[in-house]
Amino acid sequence: MDNKHVVEISDLNKSYGMGAGRLSVLKNIDLKINQSEICSIVGPSGAGKSTLLNCIGCLDSFNSGSLKIHGKELSNMTIEDLSGFRNKKLGFIFQMHNLLPEFSALENVMMPMLISRVSGKSARLRAREIIAEFGLSERINHKPGELSGGECQRIAVARAIVNQPSIILADEPTGSLDSENSSNLIDILFRLGKQMNTTIIIVTHDKTIAEKTERIISLKDGKIIEDSAVIG
Ligand SMILES: Nc1ncnc2c1ncn2[C@@H]1O[C@H](COP(=O)(O)OP(=O)(O)OP(=O)(O)O)[C@@H](O)[C@H]1O
Ligand SMILES: [Mg+2]
Repeated sequence: MDNKHVVEISDLNKSYGMGAGRLSVLKNIDLKINQSEICSIVGPSGAGKSTLLNCIGCLDSFNSGSLKIHGKELSNMTIEDLSGFRNKKLGFIFQMHNLLPEFSALENVMMPMLISRVSGKSARLRAREIIAEFGLSERINHKPGELSGGECQRIAVARAIVNQPSIILADEPTGSLDSENSSNLIDILFRLGKQMNTTIIIVTHDKTIAEKTERIISLKDGKIIEDSAVIG
């Protein structure tokens, strides 16, 4: 087993539909990602970026090939194993923040820790600390409806990272922000990621963000056409 790679994908294929209408969305994907690597996935709309990210995040299934996270083959895991694994090892950030509207910013950030049975007191303390990193200490009691879009997105990023996941998967996390807010948020995310030794995989259309990452993986028509980590 190769422990160096947190993500190890070989010959992964995914398609929708059957027969003549069959649509291949991921084709023979081979990809290895190291612990604490910060990489971006770029490419045109429909290239398969979200699909690939969702496969890595155990949110979507694939037809053939192998996908290992920390050496564990995902297709061999049970549904219960997968959900525990998602909660402990993975952090997700989506384009729309997906915060729970009935709960305050603080409670939203506490949620992943409460699910993994961290005590309420520790969860509260830790959530406050991380929210402070994002400059939102004054807003902890606001519900998402009482926060600006950028603030919600920062809280969503805080929630994704608070449990110190091994991997953060982000799909256009700054898609709804202006360039200044977007750049600030990414800088905080990458800094915290490095501190925590977290692997970050970020799907983005934003060239400025991709250029801040250590590795750019380009997808087109379901294939990796370029990978800055691979000397071609
Ligand atoms: N449930 C589905 N059934 C059939 N085809 C699908 C389904 N979900 C996605 N697709 C197709 O798979 C392809 C890849 O979709 P995906 O969402 O991964 O693209 P993307 O690279 O993330 O694009 P974007 O940049 O627009 O978000 C698209 O052509 C899409 O139409
Ligand atoms: Mg997408």
